[in-house]
Amino acid sequence: MCGIVGVTGSKDAAKVLLEGLKRLEYRGYDSAGIAILGEDGQQVIKEKGKIAALEEACKGEDLRGTCGIAHTRWATHGAPNQVNAHPHISGPVALVHNGIIENYGALKVKLTKKGHVFASETDTEVLAHLIEDFYDGDLVLAVQRALGVVEGAYGIAVTHPDHPGLIVGARKGSPLVVGVGEGVNFLASDVAAIMGHTRQVIYLDDGEMVSLTPEGVTTTTITNEAITKEIQEITWDLGQIQKGGYEHFMLKEIFEQPQTIRDSFRGRILTDSGDVKLGGIQLTDWELRNIRRIVILACGTSWHAGLVGEYLIEEYARIPVEVEYASEFRYRSPIIDPGTLCLVISQSGETIDTLEAMREAKRKGAKVLGITNVVGSTIARESECGVYIHAGPEIGVASTKAFTSQVTILALLTLLLGRRTSISADLGHQILKELENIPAKVQKVLDHSEAIKEIARIYAGHKNCLYLGRGVNFPIALEGALKLKEISYIHAEGYPAAEMKHGPIALIDPNMPVVVIAIKDGSYDKIVGNVQEVRARDGKIIAIVTEGDTEIAALSDHVITIPDTMNFWTPLLSVIPLQLLAYHIAVFRGEDVDQPRNLAKAVTVE
Ligand code: AGP
Repeated sequence: MCGIVGVTGSKDAAKVLLEGLKRLEYRGYDSAGIAILGEDGQQVIKEKGKIAALEEACKGEDLRGTCGIAHTRWATHGAPNQVNAHPHISGPVALVHNGIIENYGALKVKLTKKGHVFASETDTEVLAHLIEDFYDGDLVLAVQRALGVVEGAYGIAVTHPDHPGLIVGARKGSPLVVGVGEGVNFLASDVAAIMGHTRQVIYLDDGEMVSLTPEGVTTTTITNEAITKEIQEITWDLGQIQKGGYEHFMLKEIFEQPQTIRDSFRGRILTDSGDVKLGGIQLTDWELRNIRRIVILACGTSWHAGLVGEYLIEEYARIPVEVEYASEFRYRSPIIDPGTLCLVISQSGETIDTLEAMREAKRKGAKVLGITNVVGSTIARESECGVYIHAGPEIGVASTKAFTSQVTILALLTLLLGRRTSISADLGHQILKELENIPAKVQKVLDHSEAIKEIARIYAGHKNCLYLGRGVNFPIALEGALKLKEISYIHAEGYPAAEMKHGPIALIDPNMPVVVIAIKDGSYDKIVGNVQEVRARDGKIIAIVTEGDTEIAALSDHVITIPDTMNFWTPLLSVIPLQLLAYHIAVFRGEDVDQPRNLAKAVTVE
């Protein structure tokens, strides 16, 4: 999704901005641009496509200046082309914007009547013109007045040649972080863009703005009340956002999972007593025991993790769970009663649908618990209590390690709730004992990567794929299908295995690969039957089976084994081959694995 970088101070602005934009590439974008304020006034360069194209265009210009703003755009209003790329200019005002100005149509009509001429089809350009319209020598005031009449969401950065060295930023619904340096200050939509320069950051909240100069940072509300913000220290390092020898971030992140799963549970399990401690959950034992219903709010892969959570919590902690698409929840009239706990799951902590659903749940009086990865993200800060999954920065747009860490946390939460009601100390102990073995078992699955690559080679040219699973592995079938479609653009669908005969079975022919999660659990005999049904129609079967299985192997075209484990933990193992299969297929097809077309890492627009 769109990215913002700004810098003012003692550095070559173009260099810092281009480097920052590259660090935001993972978020997904289709054009990029830069505006530099220097002694010769303002220079603006924009290009369609990758940052490399912008960098090339910059080489031909003499970009001298130590203050500037830059942007990667993910098209919403208007095609991804050079004219629609940011920064948008109105007279001397340069503006970059993340989010959507909802009333831009009406504002454009008014401004056009006043003589403003628009170059682009974007909503953003309207805001640039509004700021110019309100400007009478005070840029901060002009921005405040303009924001007073726009409706929608924004993270913005604005410059004006009358104010060399000044960048004005503001936030409502789209993240902005200030980087505090010495003699130089930064603004970005994501700390990844600036962490090569400083580790001291200030996270802006909605309704806040900032004025940056080389000498300092001033924060106010957008209605001009002074506010004091805490400076925080970033704890992760640059190495975590580099590829470390892997061909793609996605592959690196898949292979990190033994470690990231361990990081998610480290310090949180009490194996002897079969219990769990999650410091961020500020609920007493009495409150935990009196949760009557759980509503899980999430999107995409996080929603799939939520489904795994539903299976675990209902079966082991015996609390009714509903998993809702956040985008649907926020627009209906959800029932929230005093005993309802809302679990809000988001890797980025910035997904707008999830954030707004959480706000709606809070307005309705729900207790809200955030499960996020990005420290300091909006959902992490606005949820009453929460748990970080500690997966480390996830750069690949297709989520992998965050998913397994989310599932790990949901499993720990199941234990926390269940130990206060229905799970015995002995069962809790067995579950946690086995969790300690899971990282090594994940590694065993990862060791099959080359064999999975060979299967991928065979199916890379196919157009469709079906994924089947039962019970707690049904969400894993959904997740496998999502991974494949996201990065290889092959049409894929996930189904509960038994549901196949109610429709999808019509699709099965020799050209239909069917990935079946067929591990040894309570529904094994049933899934053998489902595999037979596929085989009878000449479908191609890729089966994920438990080590030592021979029955399914005899029926399948390909088998990938996973180590035996308790049913409670199988999703953490069964998802790994599906991630690898999707990855290798996408690579064989020559697709841009880390930045798949049309997708964004954090979806900050509705
Ligand atoms: C995952 O591979 C996807 N890129 C996407 O479905 C993602 O999980 C979804 O947009 C939710 O993101 P979040 O976890 O950051 O809220």
